[in-house]
Amino acid sequence: MQLQLCTWQEVEDHLKRSTGIIVPIGSTEQHGPNGLIGTDALTAELIARGIGEQADALVAPTISVGMAQHHMAFAGSMTLRPSTLIAVVHDTVRSLARHGFDRIYFLNGHGGNIATVTAAFSEVYADASLDRDGGNAPRLRCKLKNWYETPGVKALSKELYGDAEGSHATPSEVAVTQFAYPEAIKKARMKPKLAPKGPILDAEDYRRRFPDGRIGSDPTLATPEAGKRLYEAAVKDLIEDYRAFLEAA
Ligand code: NI
Repeated sequence: MQLQLCTWQEVEDHLKRSTGIIVPIGSTEQHGPNGLIGTDALTAELIARGIGEQADALVAPTISVGMAQHHMAFAGSMTLRPSTLIAVVHDTVRSLARHGFDRIYFLNGHGGNIATVTAAFSEVYADASLDRDGGNAPRLRCKLKNWYETPGVKALSKELYGDAEGSHATPSEVAVTQFAYPEAIKKARMKPKLAPKGPILDAEDYRRRFPDGRIGSDPTLATPEAGKRLYEAAVKDLIEDYRAFLEAA
């Protein structure tokens, strides 16, 4: 169930059944010659909605712009500074907590968000720790989960793509967008077949090291059929992970 398609009364009713909510978080950044700028937000959103439908979970609006400063030398990329994203995540959690949500599950599509979102969780926990009347009870819990790292997705990516998976503009994430948005499938030739690997620093350095935007990957291998299998593997694993999060002390 999508929060945006509910009334406030429906949200109140949902809170009687579950105090958990899924927040998809991604990025708006270049994804190489055949990957969509929205890949990380679109994949996280699609998979979160799949979990929502199959597991009676509520899904919040997607945080579509993430921490992507290193992609800024490519047209169309957008970024929040780490400090801005910390504030966005912090306020998102506090807004939901205000209504009684106490298990906030961030379903992430972008590796560049991990450090910043984790720092935002520390801000949330610092609020509780600095509250004199905080007591000693279990309270608000946040979790960040990367959809592309569940056991089922990792096994399938390896089987489908092996070393050609790489780490940015991967055939797996491109395949999931091809499954979800077949009308937006792009064709492109890429040389070398496997993109270079290396460290991620600032935007101009990134473009120098990774001229077409990819890191270590060959996303020409992506197909919508594979995307469907990856999507289904992700939803299956993540329903289990989300339920375990709701039940954990
Ligand atoms: Ni990505």
